[in-house]
Amino acid sequence: MKKNILVGQSGGPTAVINASLYGIIKEAAAHSEQIGSVYGMINGIEGFLSGHIMDLSKELSDEDLELLRLTPAAYLGSCRYKLPENLDASVYTLLFEKFEQLNIGAVFYIGGNDSMDTADKLSRWAAHNNKEISFIGVPKTIDNDIWGTDMTFGFHSALDIATHAIDCIHTTAASHSRIFIVEVMGHKTGWLTLHAGIAGGADVILLPELPYDIHKVADALKQRTENGKHFSILAVAEGAISKEDAALTRSEYKKKKSKNTCPSIAYEIADQLAAETGQEVRITIPGHTQRGGSPNAYDR
Ligand code: F6P
Repeated sequence: MKKNILVGQSGGPTAVINASLYGIIKEAAAHSEQIGSVYGMINGIEGFLSGHIMDLSKELSDEDLELLRLTPAAYLGSCRYKLPENLDASVYTLLFEKFEQLNIGAVFYIGGNDSMDTADKLSRWAAHNNKEISFIGVPKTIDNDIWGTDMTFGFHSALDIATHAIDCIHTTAASHSRIFIVEVMGHKTGWLTLHAGIAGGADVILLPELPYDIHKVADALKQRTENGKHFSILAVAEGAISKEDAALTRSEYKKKKSKNTCPSIAYEIADQLAAETGQEVRITIPGHTQRGGSPNAYDR
C-alpha cells in the first residue's frame, strides 16, 4: 500500500532551504509507485499541530516547483517550537494520530539543531511505540553546527554574504584610521565567522569557542597601529564571549546580561576597544541578510 510523505521547514531559513523542499517533492514524484502525496506542514510542527497543512503534490504546478529550487526563504513558513523532553507528553500522541490519519510513511524535517531535535524525539517515540514511520532530518542551517555533518545546506551561501560584508568594509576602512567590527551570525558557534574572517582578510577574529581577552585584542590593535597599519577589521561572532564571562555560571551570566544595555556583543567590544585604544570604532552587522539572497553554487 502506498504511503504519503510529510515535510516541514523549521528554524531560521537559509538561501537554500526551498531547494531541499524541491528535492524531496521531486524525488517523491520519481517513486510514485510507492509514494502517494507529499504534504507540507505550514509553519513547521507548530502549524501542523493546529491543522495547517497543504498537499504539495496537488497544489504546486511544475513551474512553481522549478521556482522553489532557487527561491530563498521558507516556502512553507517556519517556526521555533521545541517538543517536550518528556516523551510521555500528550503532544506526541496527538502528532502520531495526525500522522496516521494522513497515512504518513516518512516525515522530513528541514532545519537546524532544534529541528534535528524534533526529528530525533519523534523518531524515538516511534521506536518505543512500534510505529513504522521514518523521520529524516535535513540539515539546514547557516551555522554549520549540526553533529555528524561536514557542511550544512545554507552555510556556504551565508558565508559568501558575510565575506562580502568584510570585503566591502575594506574599501571604507582604507580611507579612515578606524577600527571596524563586522558581527557575523552563527549562534554559539564560530564557523561562519572563522571562514568569513579568513576569506575576507579580517585582522582579528573572535569566536565563541575561544573566549577572548579584551586587553590582548586591544594590544594587538595598538601594535598594528605602531606598525603603520592605520585601520583594523575585526570579524566577531555574535556568540563571542570574553574570558571573564565564560568563567561565570549560567545563572551569573544570565543575570549580568540582563543588566547589559548593549544591543549585541559587537557594541560591548566596540566600547571597550575605543576606551583602550583611543581609536574610533565602527560596527557593521549584516544580520539576517546572511540568510537571504540566491543560493550559491556549493549550496545548489
Ligand atoms: O540558527 C540560525 C540563526 O541565523 C543564528 O545564526 C542566529 O543566532 C539565529 O538564527 C537568529 O534567529 P532569529 O532570526 O530567530 O533571531
